[in-house]
Amino acid sequence: MIERSLVLIKPDAVERNLIGKILTIYEDNNLKIINMRLTKVSRELAEAHYIEHKGRDYYENLISYITRSAVVAVVLEGEGAIALVRKLNGKTNPAEAEEGTVRRLYGLATNQNSVHASDSPENAQREIEIWFPEK
Ligand code: PPS
Repeated sequence: MIERSLVLIKPDAVERNLIGKILTIYEDNNLKIINMRLTKVSRELAEAHYIEHKGRDYYENLISYITRSAVVAVVLEGEGAIALVRKLNGKTNPAEAEEGTVRRLYGLATNQNSVHASDSPENAQREIEIWFPEK
């Protein structure tokens, strides 16, 4: 099934000039960039995006990280895009991520893991609406 996934290239990766290298991994795996923007994230947007994580012990750390400098929000489209992007990104903790995955290659730690991707079709739709609201 053709799906869409919302990816964020997070502050640690943008700060280290890794946008191109990360996008290449997705494009080389038959995923199409159908929308994209670079933006500094407001606290309001960060809280809307991570609403499911409110109350977790890492929540404040997550919000301050994602709002510290610019991120690139990308909508990727392709066959089985949601599972494919999560496979390409690798496990949350870069030290546990498989060889060749984005997080293994570029992630610094669980709280600076370079990328986010939607984890379900419902969350993909919700996140795309948050990051790319209709004008
Ligand atoms: S994932 O990738 O959604 O399956 O990751 P998950 O383990 O469910 O974690 C959800 C998001 O919270 C972030 N996270 C943390 N941030 C800071 N410190 C700690 N300890 C921590 N644990 C988890 C994790 O990177 C996920 O963010 P996203 O942006 O969704 O990858």
